[in-house]
Amino acid sequence: MFNKKSITDIDVSGKKVLVRVDFNVPIKEGKIKDDTRMTAALPTINYLLEHGASVILFSHLGRPKDEPDPQFSLEPVAKHLATLISNPVKFSADCIGEVAEKAAAALEPGEVLVLENTRFYKAESKNDPEMSKKFAKLADIYVNDAFGSAHRAHASTEGVAQYLPAVAGFLMEKEIRYLGQAVADPARPFVAILGGAKISDKIGVIDNLLEKADAVLIGGGMANTFFKAQGFSMGDSLVEAEAVETAKELLAKGSGKLHLPVDMVLANAFENDAERKVVPVGNVTDGWRVLDIGPETVKEFSKVVASAGTVVWNGPMGVFEMPNFAKGTFGVAEAVANSGAVSIIGGGDSVSAINQSGLSDKVTHISTGGGASLEMLEGKILPGLAALQDK
Ligand code: 3PG
Repeated sequence: MFNKKSITDIDVSGKKVLVRVDFNVPIKEGKIKDDTRMTAALPTINYLLEHGASVILFSHLGRPKDEPDPQFSLEPVAKHLATLISNPVKFSADCIGEVAEKAAAALEPGEVLVLENTRFYKAESKNDPEMSKKFAKLADIYVNDAFGSAHRAHASTEGVAQYLPAVAGFLMEKEIRYLGQAVADPARPFVAILGGAKISDKIGVIDNLLEKADAVLIGGGMANTFFKAQGFSMGDSLVEAEAVETAKELLAKGSGKLHLPVDMVLANAFENDAERKVVPVGNVTDGWRVLDIGPETVKEFSKVVASAGTVVWNGPMGVFEMPNFAKGTFGVAEAVANSGAVSIIGGGDSVSAINQSGLSDKVTHISTGGGASLEMLEGKILPGLAALQDK
């Protein structure tokens, strides 16, 4: 299934190894708010250090406007990394050119160098070969461990792989194994749970999963658009008018597999303390909006999930940031965690829900990718993976 070379297939001793990581982490006032993506890259970093490599890490952070911007600096990330590993961590204020080349050349085996944000250059997202060559100049080997960015064909994720021996890191391999296997060869029944606000973000995913999965459970704001397509009035609920036709097509394609909520929690305002009531489908009047799936739906979805061999979950069932509309999302989190199935969770919101519920230890795999995990579920080829050497 995973047919790319990985770091265990090459000799890294005494080599300078340029590792693309996804250190696009939330930072507030210079402090890392969630270092999951950093700790997820540690197995690769530590393996390389233990095997005598000098490790040069590079990543994007946020979406700066193609020029240096201190609020998107990776320096706080480098400082935080120094608290996670025992080896020395240095920082280069540029990701290419003289500053980076000098720092890379001076790096000893067992040392780590973190380069500044790759998106300080427009050439990065343009996948400019000149930028890729500048990255390649820094090292002997390229490793891509940035699963979260593997859907981007950028110089640091795709282009540079043309100019150095290019292999996968452990995180990349693990993510591809779980997500790839879930879609290509799942233990059945294969149940997908999709939520979030919009259908339009996930049309390709729903479409692909209606072919591959045995059941697709839909919650969150996107269910509203399906109900609209079935002719229900949805009151003041979020509905994507331009996606109603698509929803009709998906309903026709998914007949028998696509499960919509049977009841919903309504609110008379978009506020946690709004007046609320639980109603069966088809009872949303003006002045009311759907903010969560109802208790009967949680029961029904949980039943389907309990019989699953594989469960993939992406997207919350309601506005779970508001405690009064969080029961649906946390109910589904519990069902997934207790399913006994191979369980895979992707997407920032569902990952944060499973973490908040304290059940993450019971889940088989929590993906570090948002867009990348969706593209995997959509059955797309990730350019950052495709560029690596085949076994
Ligand atoms: C992510 O956070 O999903 C990845 O780091 C990719 O970021 P991007 O959407 O800005 O390319």
